[in-house]
Amino acid sequence: MATRHICFATCAPGIEPLLHSELRGLQLAKIERQVGGCYFEALPEDIWRANLCLRTAVRVLLRLSRFEARTGEQLYENVQEIDWSIFVKPGGTLRVDAKVKDSELDHSNFVEQRVKDAVVDQFMDKFGERPSVDKDEPDLRIAIHIFRDRVTLQVDTSGHSLHRRGWRKAQGFAPLAETLAAAIVMSTHWNYKAPLIDPFCGSGTLLIEAGLLATNTAPGLFRKRFGFQLWDGHNKEGFEHLKDRLRKEIRPLGKTRLIGNDLEAGRLQDVEDNAEIAGFSDNIQLESGNATEFDFKPGWNACVVTNPPYGERIGDVRDLMPVYRAFGERLRDRGQGYEVAIFSGNTDLASQLSMKFLRSLPLKNGAIECEILQGVIPETSKD
Ligand SMILES: C[S@@+](CC[C@H](N)C(=O)[O-])C[C@H]1O[C@@H](n2cnc3c(N)ncnc32)[C@H](O)[C@@H]1O
Repeated sequence: MATRHICFATCAPGIEPLLHSELRGLQLAKIERQVGGCYFEALPEDIWRANLCLRTAVRVLLRLSRFEARTGEQLYENVQEIDWSIFVKPGGTLRVDAKVKDSELDHSNFVEQRVKDAVVDQFMDKFGERPSVDKDEPDLRIAIHIFRDRVTLQVDTSGHSLHRRGWRKAQGFAPLAETLAAAIVMSTHWNYKAPLIDPFCGSGTLLIEAGLLATNTAPGLFRKRFGFQLWDGHNKEGFEHLKDRLRKEIRPLGKTRLIGNDLEAGRLQDVEDNAEIAGFSDNIQLESGNATEFDFKPGWNACVVTNPPYGERIGDVRDLMPVYRAFGERLRDRGQGYEVAIFSGNTDLASQLSMKFLRSLPLKNGAIECEILQGVIPETSKD
């Protein structure tokens, strides 16, 4: 019987409940929620599925070993017990990332260096050639976690971050991470039939991720490469077969409209290009104008998902106050019965919307504390 591996899918802190329910949807075994991700157990095909299908995960790490180490030597010896030639070629590239807490080995740089030495020394002994370090696009990422002298040694099965789906032709300006955009859409009760509107759409990340969700498209199908594809013994045929199966599970979007608007008309071409690659350009409807004047049609019962600019400098914030105020007013006036999910990184700005939200999901976007504000525009808000 094939061995099940212990894996850890990472996500932005705050998104764990959504990731947990995605893993349950994939019927994976022994799912356990932690801060910053979820553990689960997986056969090789489950690892492929997780990488192809998860929308909110950033990486899927596979545990190679767990051991105690209080010194660099103990760490080095344990790392050398793994046969690294399975994961990277002698002429390939690698990178090591360490997180250390409450341990004798308390310098992550030192830990990264020792782990790298253990790996490359093994290659020199065996092949007389060694992989080099590449911080940006390595073939292999090794993730080390040390907590109270207990070391967890993992390899990254994803390779690049899973937010790099492969559907983005145009980068746009300050696009939302795809994993985060998926989380925002998934935090709503959107029924995939009502129009979904992003009045500040930029490059359309929310619209595209919403379309992928509604069509049951595995977001990883657009990607050219995952880390595990470079490993020795990777079953290419089996993987292609799985991708074919997932392609067959894609559902048409029907008449559902994904409506985008942005003040800058130039941004809308990006949305069209991205939607074309994602496969549902016919469902995309785009407008250029001020979101504060957007024609929300009463009675649509639409779902508004958006990430208005939240400004990083104080001047920007001051300029944005009236935009938020007017946008909130417009929504309350014309969008009665609509569900809204607004991604905000500034509570002062969000308060200008003057809306009562039912739920706030705090999360981190890089270093910025953000929140997804969710609610329904009440029918009687004008009284
Ligand atoms: C934070 S970006 C949105 C990024 C987008 N979610 C993406 O992933 O590409 C905010 C967008 O709002 C647009 N914008 C700024 N003020 C606006 C306004 N008053 N009405 C409509 N769009 C506006 C900007 O042009 C920008 O594209």
